[in-house]
Order: sequence, then C-alpha cells, then structure tokens
Amino acid sequence: MTAPILRQLADLRARHAEWIRAGETVAVVPTMGALHAGHLSLVEAAQAACDRVIVTIFVNPRQFNNPEDLANYPRTEHEDAEKLADYRVDVIYVPDPDQIYPEGYATNVSVSGLTEVMEGEFRPGHFDGVATVCAKLFLQTGAHKAYFGQKDYQQLMLVRRMARDLDIPIEVIGCPTVREASGLAMSSRNLRLSEEALTRAATLHRQMQAMVAGLKAGEDIVALEQTARAALDAAGFGEVEYLDLRDAVTLERLARPTRPARLLAAAWMDGIRLIDNIDVPAV
Ligand code: PAF
Repeated sequence: MTAPILRQLADLRARHAEWIRAGETVAVVPTMGALHAGHLSLVEAAQAACDRVIVTIFVNPRQFNNPEDLANYPRTEHEDAEKLADYRVDVIYVPDPDQIYPEGYATNVSVSGLTEVMEGEFRPGHFDGVATVCAKLFLQTGAHKAYFGQKDYQQLMLVRRMARDLDIPIEVIGCPTVREASGLAMSSRNLRLSEEALTRAATLHRQMQAMVAGLKAGEDIVALEQTARAALDAAGFGEVEYLDLRDAVTLERLARPTRPARLLAAAWMDGIRLIDNIDVPAV
C-alpha cells in the first residue's frame, strides 16, 4: 500500500505524537529521491528495527556546490512512492521547501575536521548543507534511528558526529553499499550514464579491489595508486579527484593500513561524478 505523502511539518508532528503516545519506535531514512536498491535496503533495515518508518525525500539545494548538478538531479517522486509501496513505510515526508528553509532562515550547521578533506575539499559547502539538513530532518522527524548508506562514507561519519555533538537523541546506522552485478556502487547519479558508460564505470570498483589486494600483500600505496589511475584513464574516466587510504574512523590519511582503514575515491565519468569506498582490514 502506498504510504501517505506529507508535505507539512505540522502533519508529520501529529503522526509522530500518536506513535510516541503508543510507545512505538521511529526510524527515518533520509533521501533525495530517485530511489534505487541501495535506498530500499535502508528501508528494509529500518523496518526490521523500528515500529514506524519515515522516508524523507528532499533535494536539498544547500548541499549542491554546482547549480547544474542541482538542476539535473533526478526528481521522480511518483516512481519513488510506487517503489516504497512494497515496504512497510508509514509516511513519506516530502517537505515543501519552506518547511526546511522558511523565509529568513539563517542557521548553518558545520562540522569541522572530518569535512575538510576529500568531498569537503572538492565540493566546498557541500557538507555544511548535509549537516544542516540532516540536523533539521532528525529534529523534525524525532526519529530514534536514522539509516544511511556506507557508499557516502564521509557523510556517514560527519552526520554521526553532528548528532553526537548536538546531543540529538538519535542512533545513526550505516548500512552496506549495494552494488550492481558489475561491482559499480548504486547511485541516483548512475541514471545519467549510458549503458556503455556504466560498464566502463565499474572499473573504479575493480581497481579499488585490486589496490586493497595489493595493500594486503604489503605492496606500496604509491605504485598501486599509479596503476589504478592508469587503468581508470584507459577506461575513459576523466579527473580522479582522490583515491585515498584513510583511517576508518578519523579519516586521517594513511600510507599503510596499520589500523582499520577505508579506501575512498571520487572520479568523473562522462560528466558525472562517482564516489565509492571499500573496507581495508588492518594488516
Ligand atoms: O545522501 C543523501 O541522499 C543526502 O546527502 C541526504 C543524507 C539525504 C541529505 O540531503
């Protein structure tokens, strides 16, 4: 059954109050729509853990550093609602823009440290937009648990830190990245790539896996990165913005995975920016 779409905060709050009165637990899955199997896996995790599930759909203008990217971001509300009909979703919250940023809105949430590298370096302002909208969505939904994909690993770390620092009583849960059979991480932006480009884009994940295998075998990170960059170039990737080995928690740069680490990448394919990351066990 299709869940009701609510666009006003007052309506969401009224539902939430009923649930809390009944002693129920509430989960939120924040999204920008264009839902794919990755989002739906978050909904599954949310419904397994909580009595009530809210999926939010809001294309947040404040997190787009590139106006063209914002204009081209897929908006598929009708299809999204149809996809969610197969799940136990109680409310789809698609706030009218003024419910998030009313006239005169002046507050910015900014998390320092974690946000200065990788996405923070290449997308100035992006993480302030993410932290601000997530703080608002956490407070508006009053959820006990929030579900995020590990595909946006840096985002997950920053949102967790923001909730902790601001004492927002919510548990931020990271769920595994869902991939195509080719290994390509699912992303709403993949919709903008041709079939042929999607096949070439899967090289990113394969090269990252090869780097992790090399690191496990004690090979040098600089040489591994050079090989991977050459393979990405040959597959038709444009700029590779970063291909970094970092501490899994602090995101501090590492030369060797002497403690639990993550390999993270951002690279352009046919005008579309793709990101991915994988686990690197300590060796
Ligand atoms: O990952 C996303 O889709 C967005 O960054 C999020 C968390 C919904 C905030 O707008």
